[in-house]
Amino acid sequence: MKSVLFRKKPIEHLLNDHTETQFKKTLGAFDLVLLGVGAIVGTGIFILPGTVAANHSGPAIIFSFIIAAIVCSLAGMCFSEFSSSVPVTGSAYTYGYIVFGELIAWFVGWALLLEYGLAVASVATGWSSYLNSLLAGFHMAIPEAISGPFNPAAGTYINLPAMVIIFILAFLLTLGIRESTNFNTLMVFIKIGVILLFIGVGIFYVKPEHWHPFMPFGIDGVMNGAALVFFAYLGFDAVSSAAEEVKNPQRNMPIGIIGSLLICTLLYVVVSLVLTGIAPYTGLNVDNPVTVAMQMVHQDWIAGVISLGAIIGMITVILVMLYGGTRLLYAIGRDGLLPKSMSELSKKHQTPVKNTWVFASAAALCAGVVPLSKLAELVNMGTLLAFTIVSVGTIYLRKNKNIPAGGFKVPFFPILPICSFLLCLFLITQLSVQTWIACGIWFIFGLIIYFIYGRKHSLMNKI
Ligand code: ALA
Repeated sequence: MKSVLFRKKPIEHLLNDHTETQFKKTLGAFDLVLLGVGAIVGTGIFILPGTVAANHSGPAIIFSFIIAAIVCSLAGMCFSEFSSSVPVTGSAYTYGYIVFGELIAWFVGWALLLEYGLAVASVATGWSSYLNSLLAGFHMAIPEAISGPFNPAAGTYINLPAMVIIFILAFLLTLGIRESTNFNTLMVFIKIGVILLFIGVGIFYVKPEHWHPFMPFGIDGVMNGAALVFFAYLGFDAVSSAAEEVKNPQRNMPIGIIGSLLICTLLYVVVSLVLTGIAPYTGLNVDNPVTVAMQMVHQDWIAGVISLGAIIGMITVILVMLYGGTRLLYAIGRDGLLPKSMSELSKKHQTPVKNTWVFASAAALCAGVVPLSKLAELVNMGTLLAFTIVSVGTIYLRKNKNIPAGGFKVPFFPILPICSFLLCLFLITQLSVQTWIACGIWFIFGLIIYFIYGRKHSLMNKI
């Protein structure tokens, strides 16, 4: 029994296999950086800086962002080592399979499905409310009954805009990754342009006295803030899901992951500084702080442009998270732990059309009927669990003699992977008890599926 649960996937098998189901290799380093920025910058810059500064960190939110960035960069380096050594789709799930065996791989895959699925759903919900507020600026409104989660007392039954945007993006993904990244590139440029516009205009309205007191909630507030703004960096791991579609992954994967993290950290810190400089942090506890700050200094026209940019920014986050989820389902299906139909590629576009619709439908259902505002913590939990496994996994990966030479290596080994592991654990301890319980239920459900289906159908039974 023990050997079945912890059977490992041989690396040489992974590297030589999959000749029949290979994706087209079309992505370069620049595409990956853009894919990363597309996945990362979303609600984290357009919503979180306001609420977290007001309730947890004050202007010292920049430290929260920097701490979260350090945790993510360390984990990002571990991801880079894995994805450049084993450029196979499936991200942390596949890495777990190689170093820790099937049960841990399933656990990580299940955690990542939670991350991607709920991130798609919750960002789509945020997108829907931004759309509503933009329409309100033009004196238009989506009927209330179809603009919120199932809550008859409040007069809302379904969040139709959130569901529709998920299905539109799923359709785009089924057309092919090249088409999707072209669309992503355009959207990312618009998103960064809007953020630079905010910084460029906002900087002239900064009043340094708003930065006093700088750390009103003390170090504890900064740490709590770090566990929350961690959400703002999620998505960079989705870049590693693209491994099989990347040219020269040894070089390009680390550039894609670390490069996108660096750009995002810089944007978050500067935006937070400008935001808390324009308005007192106490006034930023709103859903659209960036827009509100511009309205406070009577730049209404710019505020409108920024709302539009936020809507576009969130679209790319949904797109890349959706992409990560479908590639993960593909990898799990290919290994036999979920039905084989999850790993079928369409002949025409070479994309996993069936699994895209399955994943998108599940996420859309959550976005449509479940109130997701409180579930962002659950997304963080799923991700942090996967990060801890990848961090420790790097140490075991190095011991494997079958790894091809020339890939990226985490510096200061093994100190950095150990720090990464401990920091992720620390952030997990900052999450609430409800999140722990909800996460436990999700994993019990996952284990049942594994023991009923995955263990019997695993391809490893044939090796
Ligand atoms: N990092 C993504 C965002 O901030 C999830 O929206």
